[in-house]
Amino acid sequence: MSESAARIRPFQPSDQKLVRFYVGKSRMEGLTSANVRVYTNFFVLAIWIALSSAFVHYMQWWPRREKGLLENLSPLSAFACMALPIMFITDWVNRPDFEKSMNDALRRPDLVDTAIYYARSPASGFWILEFNDRFVGLIAVDASLDSTSDEVVVGSDKPAEENAKPAKSYSTKGTSNVATIRHFYVEEPYRTASVQDDLLEHAIKHAFAEKEVERIRAVNESLVPYIGEALHRQGFVSASVLETVGVLNWHVHESVLERKVWESKQKA
Ligand SMILES: *[C@@H]1O[C@H](CO)[C@@H](O)[C@H](O)[C@H]1NC(C)=O
Repeated sequence: MSESAARIRPFQPSDQKLVRFYVGKSRMEGLTSANVRVYTNFFVLAIWIALSSAFVHYMQWWPRREKGLLENLSPLSAFACMALPIMFITDWVNRPDFEKSMNDALRRPDLVDTAIYYARSPASGFWILEFNDRFVGLIAVDASLDSTSDEVVVGSDKPAEENAKPAKSYSTKGTSNVATIRHFYVEEPYRTASVQDDLLEHAIKHAFAEKEVERIRAVNESLVPYIGEALHRQGFVSASVLETVGVLNWHVHESVLERKVWESKQKA
């Protein structure tokens, strides 16, 4: 009888396709919440109501007493008509930042040959969390000598090929004093159970087990709050604003966990 169990296991070369899929998905996640935040923005709602009312007025669709109930519903269709272009434009303006983030992530050397890349330092690691052999989440911590590099290996004008070869060799071994959480994702239904905390803790323990590692960096996007909350629970603090994305300029923070902070948390 198989027991229902969650387990964290290391990446295997046969996971390459799966990992590229979920890393892409995680990079696009902010887009949906960016769009929703625009639709629920006060000014956007005001513009939508104003345009719809003008349209109803122009079409002379305001309800009239002599008409039947169905005909009096026509103002609603004007509101629906006006919602579509607003949704379209919002998505069109927000999308490029997220697509760029996804394309860059898929072109970095660590996703070309993941097993080799994360074997360059004993403090690095890539893990997959499964529940009953179903994919639930992933995390990757990079402590190699390129841990703070954001270099992409294929030009942005070329498609992100799975077998693209890096221009430079990524075979040098060694451990940097700054490790980076490169990928961190948990499927939506499992987030309420806080399995992201288990994954993150696992990666932190692994990285800090090597003496050289002094601090761990991670990206905290205000549009994807479950990551920021998990980082906060482990003692990460916001260090700087890396960039702003989308129409409403949401912030992407760099968060940092110092070894001292982590060790004092373990003692407490
Ligand atoms: C993550 O970002 C949010 C705002 O975008 C900020 O309030 C929070 O403190 C950040 N958390 C960490 C751990 O950096």
